Parts: sequence; C-alpha cells; structure tokens
Amino acid sequence: MAVLGQKHSRFMSAITRGRTQSKLAQLLMNPNHTETHKTQIRRATYDEAKDLKAWDEFVGDRRIDNWRGELFVAVDGGEVVAYISYSSNLFYNRPFIGLLCVKASYRRRGIARQLIQQILATYDGLDVWVSTEEWNEPAVKLFDSLGFRKMGAIKGLNRDESVEAYFVRQSCAEGADSVATQP
Ligand SMILES: CC(C)(COP(=O)(O)OP(=O)(O)OC[C@H]1O[C@@H](n2cnc3c(N)ncnc32)[C@H](O)[C@@H]1OP(=O)(O)O)[C@@H](O)C(=O)NCCC(=O)NCCS
Repeated sequence: MAVLGQKHSRFMSAITRGRTQSKLAQLLMNPNHTETHKTQIRRATYDEAKDLKAWDEFVGDRRIDNWRGELFVAVDGGEVVAYISYSSNLFYNRPFIGLLCVKASYRRRGIARQLIQQILATYDGLDVWVSTEEWNEPAVKLFDSLGFRKMGAIKGLNRDESVEAYFVRQSCAEGADSVATQP
C-alpha cells in the first residue's frame, strides 16, 4: 500500500488516518489543554512554531504542522521546550503522531509523556499510531510505557537504512478502529 505522507526525521519515516469530522472539528477548536504545576501543553503560536527550528532535531518547518492545526507545544517557565505534531487522517485515515521532540536539557521529566497523553485525549475513543526507528530506545520505551504495541516495521523507508517500527495505542472504546481485531 502506498504511503501517503512522509515523516521528516533525521532520517525519514512514513505517516498518516480520519473519522467523525464534527467531533474532531470540535476537539480541534476546543482542545483539552493539559497543565501541570510546571509544564503547560497548548497550541503553538505562529512565532513559536517558527522558532522551533533553533533546536528541532527533525527536518522540515513546524509552521506547516501548525497551519494544519496539528501541533502542540510544551511550555516551561515561558519557554517552549518540546513539541508534538500529529495528523488526523494522513496515515491511512487514522490518528498518527508525526514528530515528537523535547529539548535535550528538558528530557526525562515526563514532558514527552504529557504530550502524547494530550494526543490520546484529543482522539479519545480512537486508536492512535506512531512510528520511530527501531534503534530509538528512548522512544520505544516511551511508547511502551504508554501502552503502545508494536505492529510492524518497514525497511527501505529511512535514508539511513534504519528500520521504521510502527506502534498502536488501541482504544478500549466500542467501535474504535482496531486492526488487531480484524480478521
Ligand atoms: C524520545 C524523547 C521524545 C523522550 O522525551 P522525554 O521528555 O525525555 O521523555 P519522558 O521524560 O516523558 O519519558 C517517559 C518514559 O519514556 C522512557 N524514556 C524516555 N527517555 C528514555 C531514555 N533516554 N532511555 C530509556 N527510557 C527512556 C522511560 O520509560 C520514561 O519513563 P521514566 O523516566 O519514568 O523512566 C526525547 O528523548 C527526544 O526528543 N528525542 C529526540 C527526538 C526523538 O527521538 N523523538 C522520538 C521519535 S519521533
């Protein structure tokens, strides 16, 4: 099956998904912002999305994700320290986490976990997909700790010849998309 989009990483990966447009539109206009004592998760402003370039580990321009309305940032003490991009329907019409990056000095504080939880809340009731290079132990462990299961891998997708592994966090909701239950 053709991959419809591409994840831009230091390497490169595939993307993409969809469903109940009205509910998604409602959620996107009124996201459940997550806030802890320290780190706030919210939509990025134009300038914040533009300025991610200064420390972003991935290629491409995050303003594009922001224009699509599919970018959250983590803000700590007024500073943007992490972001997550995602798509509702570019990955075979399923919710897909595209890029996730935390500033090096802010890692291991639970920020990536918070960002992923924001996406899971946004798509409450739907399965959410994500991918990363098989060697990326921090990411693999992060996904594992949040209940994602590895479903497969693609060779030949990334420029550096690393294997891209795909994971799903299945929803318990009745009627949710679930490849695992399909024959
Ligand atoms: C992967 C990445 C997003 C993790 O961000 P983070 O904010 O440090 O992650 P968290 O603090 O939320 O970690 C949550 C859990 O993930 C796992 N984890 C995260 N980093 C880890 C590491 N370096 N080694 C092992 N496990 C790790 C742990 O289980 C951790 O829980 P714990 O701290 O209670 O043990 C970050 O390292 C990063 O931005 N890397 C570069 C970009 C990248 O690889 N993105 C992912 C692929 S799209």
